[in-house]
Amino acid sequence: MTTQKPSTRRLVVVGSLNMDLVMRVPRAPEAGETLTGYDFATHPGGKGANQAVACARLGGKVTMIGRLGNDAFGHSLRDGLIAEGIADDTVGCDEGTATGVAMIMVDDSAQNRITLAPGTNAKLTPAHVEQQAALLDGAAMLILQLEVPMPTVLRAAELANRYGCPVLLNPAPATSLPDSIWPLIDYLVPNETEASLLTGLTVTDPASATEAAKILLTKGIRNVLITLGAQGVLIANSEGVQHLPAFPVDAVDTTAAGDTFIGGLSTGLAEGLPLGDAVRLGQRAASVSVTRHGAQPSIPYRAELDS
Ligand code: RIB
Repeated sequence: MTTQKPSTRRLVVVGSLNMDLVMRVPRAPEAGETLTGYDFATHPGGKGANQAVACARLGGKVTMIGRLGNDAFGHSLRDGLIAEGIADDTVGCDEGTATGVAMIMVDDSAQNRITLAPGTNAKLTPAHVEQQAALLDGAAMLILQLEVPMPTVLRAAELANRYGCPVLLNPAPATSLPDSIWPLIDYLVPNETEASLLTGLTVTDPASATEAAKILLTKGIRNVLITLGAQGVLIANSEGVQHLPAFPVDAVDTTAAGDTFIGGLSTGLAEGLPLGDAVRLGQRAASVSVTRHGAQPSIPYRAELDS
């Protein structure tokens, strides 16, 4: 008897694509200080694209909706999507606007500091999503982050609800959200910083994350999953609160760890896994990603996890 792979329904990612310009440094420089780093690399990134690539490498069928420029970075990022088997005909091209860029410093403690020039990501409008709304019909999940304009994120969530497609929002980078979006969200996946900003609490550990998750659940979100880095993930929904510890690893670069977790979580849910098992898949994938450098270069393939 052959072992059949689980059938996976399509995942739709609406979000950003960036070229990451990455320098490894011993520590963050002070204001006015010039600091010599170790090395420099250019990697494909952007929270939306990272999450799309994570879904694809972990076994998902993915369509990406976003914008790129007609420039070297834009062409390279599009080639990358195609190489991953991600449907890219819904990634439009804006003449005259530069592709999004992220400047990233990664220090000796594996922490990153990121500054962004949104470029074409800022040109993704609600109308672009409306043109592709039919993709949400029958999709397993719409995956959203906040590196594209808020009205676009909100419209995408509204359309997904209309088609009965579950919505996952990763509220990153941290910013406040319009009240109208809360009841549209099936899975909210903030990290400590984002959960703190959204609730006014200081989230640092499973106990404070539990308090933050309870506040977020009162807003009408169905499942809250707060990622706590090396302290694991806190899951809260109407069935209660559960803390899943992280896999212990020696991290060298945490860039895209959250994106990789979301890819595993979403792919697991699309395969029909129970929430706890889908979270474990995301955690396993993220635990591998932090042992490697770069955003997309660090994201593992499913076969690596299975072995
Ligand atoms: O989440 C990591 C990503 O954040 C990087 O790839 C960078 O592009 C920024 O968007």
